[in-house]
Amino acid sequence: MKTKAAVVYEPGKRIEIEELDLDGPKDGEVLIRYTYAGLCHSDLHVVTGDLEARMPIVLGHEGAGIVEEVGPGVTRVAPGDHVVCSFIPNCGVCRYCATGRQSICDWGATILEGYLPGPRFPLTGPRGEYGATCMLGTFSQYGVIHQNSAVKVDDDLPLDKAVLVGCGVPTGWGSAVYTAKVTPGDTVAVFGIGGIGINAVQGARYAGAKNVVAIDPLENKREKAMELGATHAFATADEAQAAITEMTRGQGADSAILTVDLMTAEVVAAGFNAIGKGGVVVVTGLNKLMEPTIQLPGSILTLFRKDIKGSLFGDCNPTYDIPKILGLYQAGDIKLDEIITRTYTLDQVNEGYDDLLAGKNVRGIIVHEH
Ligand SMILES: NC(=O)c1ccc[n+]([C@@H]2O[C@H](COP(=O)([O-])OP(=O)(O)OC[C@H]3O[C@@H](n4cnc5c(N)ncnc54)[C@H](O)[C@@H]3O)[C@@H](O)[C@H]2O)c1
Ligand SMILES: [Zn+2]
Ligand SMILES: [Zn+2]
Repeated sequence: MKTKAAVVYEPGKRIEIEELDLDGPKDGEVLIRYTYAGLCHSDLHVVTGDLEARMPIVLGHEGAGIVEEVGPGVTRVAPGDHVVCSFIPNCGVCRYCATGRQSICDWGATILEGYLPGPRFPLTGPRGEYGATCMLGTFSQYGVIHQNSAVKVDDDLPLDKAVLVGCGVPTGWGSAVYTAKVTPGDTVAVFGIGGIGINAVQGARYAGAKNVVAIDPLENKREKAMELGATHAFATADEAQAAITEMTRGQGADSAILTVDLMTAEVVAAGFNAIGKGGVVVVTGLNKLMEPTIQLPGSILTLFRKDIKGSLFGDCNPTYDIPKILGLYQAGDIKLDEIITRTYTLDQVNEGYDDLLAGKNVRGIIVHEH
């Protein structure tokens, strides 16, 4: 069948809309009609080349849709099911899945090559085989994904909101709840209030933090953070540092969660300085794979017994956490409607990312037309 998709052919170039051919689902695979996709900054890293992906690649790794057809051996979902896609597949049996760490499942190895096991490329077009970001490619009307990437959700959930639980919400929420392990009474600093950071704010608040300090140079982001659970908001790390010192009687924050768009050594140092003894810095935002974004005084790390932890997908287990977070949404404990700034058609994908770069959007959503 044919599908219209947003493609990157070369890093640094504009995203192109292309009509591609999509093969039917084979063993363990699922044909999905994507209904919504979220504009996460990680796709933009692929566009700019900060994340080096195999090209050409169909963008999009935050997505939701409806299962149209399943291949042989599919047991996790059935035609008609509503699904939220997980941007890391979970095989269920590798050592990481088997120990409750689905976000580092071995199947995640090819998320930047974008092919299914085989290697197999269900998408083809004028320039041969096309990968799909995170083996999803949600900026396409249709996709063939592996069942290990699909999480069935309740039919009555609005997919236009649930789509955020494919990346932004679990990544941010889990960075606070699971990686930073925020506990009641904590002081938490969140650097960078985009689609990820706003959910770190929500996670920190839900976990019982006393002080949730949001840091972002943009006023609209700080306002949104205050609306969704931050207790303080500052434009700069210096202002935040002074306030954190004051509010913790000089002890420093318990955790700093770094969710800026392009991670730098300066941001990591600011997070490291914001936390006190026994505190943890959570590095969630990305940069080029080999960019040295951590340059810190190691002896202070040792003597203050500080921690630095990477967080992928917020350390969430998609088959457990996606339904759980959606349940929290239904109960009103996590806000999703409030973090969607604007919707776009697939043809407007470049405009959507221009808006993200201009700082207008907390999260933009593509509404697919079929
Ligand atoms: N680890 C993971 O699993 C994972 C998953 C998804 C996204 N990411 C990464 O997380 C990062 C954030 O993604 P997003 O979609 O939320 O991006 P975004 O563009 O929506 O938000 C980034 C925010 O950071 C702010 N910012 C920039 N520099 C800052 C600074 N020095 N101090 C404070 N704030 C600053 C920006 O104003 C913006 O509001 C990206 O690097 C993305 O690739 C990681
Ligand atoms: Zn993402
Ligand atoms: Zn696995």
